Amino acid sequence: MQIFSKNSDTIVHGDAIEALQTVSDNSVDLIFADPPYNIGKVFGECKDRWPTDEAYAEWCAQWLDLCIQKLKPTGSMYIMSSTQCIPYLDLYLRKKINILSRIVWSYDSSGVQAKKYFGSMYEPILFCVKDPKNYTFNANDILVDAKTGSKRKLIDYRKPVPTVYNSEKVPGNVWEFARVRYRMDEYEEHPTQKPEALLERVIKASSNPGDLVLDPFSGTFSTCAVAQRLGRHTVGIEKELDYVKIGLRRLSILAELNGEPLVKARRTFEPVERVEQQQLPIEAPSKKGRQRKQQADYIADQKQLQLGVTT
Ligand SMILES: C[S@@+](CC[C@H](N)C(=O)[O-])C[C@H]1O[C@@H](n2cnc3c(N)ncnc32)[C@H](O)[C@@H]1O
Repeated sequence: MQIFSKNSDTIVHGDAIEALQTVSDNSVDLIFADPPYNIGKVFGECKDRWPTDEAYAEWCAQWLDLCIQKLKPTGSMYIMSSTQCIPYLDLYLRKKINILSRIVWSYDSSGVQAKKYFGSMYEPILFCVKDPKNYTFNANDILVDAKTGSKRKLIDYRKPVPTVYNSEKVPGNVWEFARVRYRMDEYEEHPTQKPEALLERVIKASSNPGDLVLDPFSGTFSTCAVAQRLGRHTVGIEKELDYVKIGLRRLSILAELNGEPLVKARRTFEPVERVEQQQLPIEAPSKKGRQRKQQADYIADQKQLQLGVTT
């Protein structure tokens, strides 16, 4: 296990269960956990397929217990998994913590999802708090347009005094955010990067500036990058060195690691001049990486289709 720290941000290169054991109990304000989903994705050397669903559930129970132990009494956690595995986590967690919302992250896809069943177009998120009477929820920081009443300039006649509808509201539990695409600025080379907009909603709602936000399966470190931008302190844990390097760069913890400059690889559509200005490498490793990712995604999707499972 290796630890990198700068200012109020820490990256742990290592196993989530081992690393979580080193965190002080009752010290974390917010945990966002997006573990492997047990659906056969490829995360570098990491496995994303357990022998059985029960074995996956047992592994999840270990890190979920640790997350609960590390949360402050006022803390919150958001837990993701695949549609087919989240019921195991839900049934486990409801005995240990309060699940306040079962969120559906819904997205569209231009590709064909499935031809013989209804393709999966969402990912589930459990929003849990330790104490349902005492937790952070900054409703005013995450308001969204109320699309119905106010847009149509309706008057609510059910109120004692007829009133125009509010133009903003707290989002419900169906969240529409585009998935991270290759051409988006925030794109990093990782098969399951979560959108910054989604993380911004989570972090703004469930933490305050100066709070500690922890992500035990950081991947591209989007949670930590957004939390840092919003003035929170962060701890990100990740097992794969290639993803740790993304985190070290995104959080400005290191500019190089063992002599290797930590720079964002040029994407195929980006002009070379822009890359030179940023002193990024002009070879196109991103193209190779992208092909590898597409191949890995394709194989994983084919396996899912064969097994009849969806994410
Ligand atoms: C679903 S991805 C997380 C993606 C991340 N939320 C993002 O937005 O980029 C899961 C991550 O967990 C990492 N991982 C898998 N097993 C791990 C373990 N035992 N400890 C720490 N990280 C692990 C994988 O390498 C992968 O990057």
